[in-house]
Amino acid sequence: LYPLARALLFQLDAERAHHLAFRGLHWADRLGLLRLSAPCLPARPVSAMGLLFPNPVGLAAGLDKNGEHIDQMAALGFGFIEVGTVTPRPQPGNPRPRLFRLPTHQALINRLGFNNLGLEVLLRNVAASRFHRKGGIIGINIGKNFDTPNERAADDYLLCLEASYPLASYITVNVSSPNTRNLRDLQADDALRALLRTLGQSRERLRRKHGRQVPIALKIAPDLPDDEVERIAQTVRSEGFDALIATNTTLARPGVEQHRLSGESGGLSGAPLREGADRVLAAACRSLSGSLPVMGVGGILHGRDADRKFALGASLVQLYTGLIYRGPELVRECILAAPDQHEP
Ligand SMILES: Cc1cc2nc3c(=O)[nH]c(=O)nc-3n(C[C@H](O)[C@H](O)[C@H](O)COP(=O)(O)O)c2cc1C
Repeated sequence: LYPLARALLFQLDAERAHHLAFRGLHWADRLGLLRLSAPCLPARPVSAMGLLFPNPVGLAAGLDKNGEHIDQMAALGFGFIEVGTVTPRPQPGNPRPRLFRLPTHQALINRLGFNNLGLEVLLRNVAASRFHRKGGIIGINIGKNFDTPNERAADDYLLCLEASYPLASYITVNVSSPNTRNLRDLQADDALRALLRTLGQSRERLRRKHGRQVPIALKIAPDLPDDEVERIAQTVRSEGFDALIATNTTLARPGVEQHRLSGESGGLSGAPLREGADRVLAAACRSLSGSLPVMGVGGILHGRDADRKFALGASLVQLYTGLIYRGPELVRECILAAPDQHEP
């Protein structure tokens, strides 16, 4: 059915199509159609970050920013769902239009700017989801409000960490969105170390309070040279964090320079991002040599793209743009591409 739905949705403005697709999924869920059409998927259990994932294919952050669609996304067969990016206070994001499709390139450009309903609403939605109650793995991706200066960014991340801690299976610290001014400066050496240290100390207090250690991942940009990736990977490891996510969207326009929309500002995702995201993934895996898991994200449009990320060393993968272009079939393809850890 997805090719038909896609043909209709692609007639609409990208952001309207997004909301309409979710409304359709909600109705399908309420009528029990999602359960009826639930895909029969092979088990591909993976342990990473101290968690046991039923399969290593997750939903990437940004598709369900407010945690409103967790159960509908879980019904597609994802092994885990990452919600957010959430900021402490609600914020509207950038003016529209701010999301663009480049169908000939199987790509998107977005400058949404962390539009979200805030921490309180997200946490209420996570707690109310069936997936959470059944023990499904939910990552909460945290960021800072656009009007919080970088010198006070740690306060926003701390607020999000503390409030999310009791509900999250893992927490992702997002310092790599290109659409919040200067956010990526937090990836720089001293700034990153200071932020991670503050969060690490808070996590230690929370671990004692809640009697449970919630793993923390750092999500990085693809627009970094290999030596910077290696430096960040080592900082993540030495500060006691649990995983690296490579990558967010890119400010570069590889292979789409001639497209009429390539001049739109924002982050590019989908097929043109694949090569750059794979380079960063490979550099991170090389640097960590198995000491920490790495999640591969960026440009997965087919099972073979996920396969390549696993071959480069990813323990887990995540999808966003590919889901828009390929629909639920992509989830199945990627699960089938995952290495079967039970194989001799
Ligand atoms: C419209 C859109 C919104 C996104 N919002 C977020 C976000 O809020 N936080 C985040 O960490 N990543 C966000 N991302 C990045 C994705 O999670 C992912 O890292 C990136 O798109 C690369 O994967 P893909 O090529 O499969 O889309 C967003 C991506 C898109 C296309």
